[in-house]
Amino acid sequence: MNRVITISLITIGIFSLSSFMPDPKLSQSIKRGKEVYALNCQSCHMEDGKGMPDVNPPLAKADYLRKPPKTLINIILKGQSGEVVVNRKKYNVAMPAQEYLTDIQIADVLNYSRNNWGNKIPGLITPAMVKAARK
Ligand code: HEC
Repeated sequence: MNRVITISLITIGIFSLSSFMPDPKLSQSIKRGKEVYALNCQSCHMEDGKGMPDVNPPLAKADYLRKPPKTLINIILKGQSGEVVVNRKKYNVAMPAQEYLTDIQIADVLNYSRNNWGNKIPGLITPAMVKAARK
């Protein structure tokens, strides 16, 4: 009986520890994504991620970033035009496609955006997911 309790406690301990530890793959991707953002996105979405009123929608605390990874990947690969609603505000200016970015760069910039400016969206976007979306 004691052994069962000990083993259960150890198991619970390991699980709770691992949920607090940041995924090293994710933290490295976020770090690389900062530069991709600065070079390719910042001119429109701004350094603070707040965008430009009525022109470029925000990424900071943006409900839109909770959409499935595939939707976000496609915005970068294909651009986006037509009306979009972000945090209950409408925007209607075209975002150019950036399919020339590599699979890693696109995964990194999205991981960075989903974990910066007050965003904390669980899950890792991988280069393989970007590759699959290109087909
Ligand atoms: C030339 C300006 C411009 C650049 C550069 C740009 N965007 Fe956008 N982005 C926009 C506009 C404008 C929209 C809204 C498009 C619409 O109205 O349909 C948008 C929409 C978005 C959206 C969905 C709406 C939201 O706010 O969450 C995401 C996510 C996004 N952009 C991420 C990026 C990322 C990441 C990059 C860099 C790889 C980038 N954008 C580069 C202008 C830009």
